[in-house]
Amino acid sequence: MAKITIDGIETEVPDGTTILNAARQIGGAIVPPAMCYYTSLQQSGGKCRVCLVRVAQASARDPRPLPKLVASCSTPVQDGMIVENITSPDVLEARKGVVEFLLINHPLDCPICDQAGECDLQDLSYAHGLATTRYEEERRTFEPIDIGDKIKLHMTRCILCYRCTYVADQLTDERRHGVLNRGDRAEIGTYIQKAIDNDFSGNMIDVCPVGALTDRTFRFKSRVWFTRPLDAHRNCEKCCGKVVLWTKGEEVLRVTARKDKYGEVHEFICNECRFEHKNLSDWVVEGPRHIDRHSVISQNHYEKINLVALKKEIERQIQFQKGRTNGNNPNALTA
Ligand code: SF4
Ligand code: FES
Repeated sequence: MAKITIDGIETEVPDGTTILNAARQIGGAIVPPAMCYYTSLQQSGGKCRVCLVRVAQASARDPRPLPKLVASCSTPVQDGMIVENITSPDVLEARKGVVEFLLINHPLDCPICDQAGECDLQDLSYAHGLATTRYEEERRTFEPIDIGDKIKLHMTRCILCYRCTYVADQLTDERRHGVLNRGDRAEIGTYIQKAIDNDFSGNMIDVCPVGALTDRTFRFKSRVWFTRPLDAHRNCEKCCGKVVLWTKGEEVLRVTARKDKYGEVHEFICNECRFEHKNLSDWVVEGPRHIDRHSVISQNHYEKINLVALKKEIERQIQFQKGRTNGNNPNALTA
């Protein structure tokens, strides 16, 4: 086991754990963001650099800081390591720079993008992005293409995280797509149009952190926050059959795998569950999907209303407003 301190919080993790996973064990705001790392996909990580952290002390044996910021998703912990994430101004500055780079070619088309509301890059830009762009050169653009009859590729939105290629490599029988070319010519390419006729290819949509790969059966049907997500399952011979149904009334608009709080799927689902069972009666509905209340998707979705707590909160706010109007110290009223 190794003892590690992240942003002043100490934890103990098995040797070989990465800094990112150690931070996830602690949880909360100190967890670095991740756009390319994906727990269930081998070799993922180390591409996007949004998870950079500062190692203020390399280990108990060697208390010197590491000279450069490191990618937390691919750096293993050492006993006695001290790591700074949100407590380091250098890290926050570097993350800002990485976000600016990621947005150089990525279009700001959130109002028409199906990923809006559940896009990691959108969240990251709100947290670390600039309000304006300094980029004056021509952005690279691509025509959207259909890959198979169920998936749309908008290469212009791709951040080259490689997750979809790992899905193709590790989950489907025959990989037919990957990253072609290098530098600013690099693109997710082909024989992709021919490909993706495989039982597990739909998982590429779920792992894509941006709107580069979207579900053609769901596109433009609804903004995701207008849907009602439900946990449901069915007996499936090909996969675990555990999904989230994104519904509107009785209609099932979309079926996805279940993601954890870091946006990762641990049990991938087959294309039959994803695309061929769009009737509520095909599923055993377990109940509302828990959505983090900070997500826009949680708007207007109440799993359970605690009326007593709600009443108390309203009374507290009324009291707070009265205190402000009377010129009292409002903080005294929150006690
Ligand atoms: S298409 Fe999506 S998942 Fe694939 S490399 Fe691009 S951003 Fe990543
Ligand atoms: S998540 Fe670590 S480099 Fe992308």
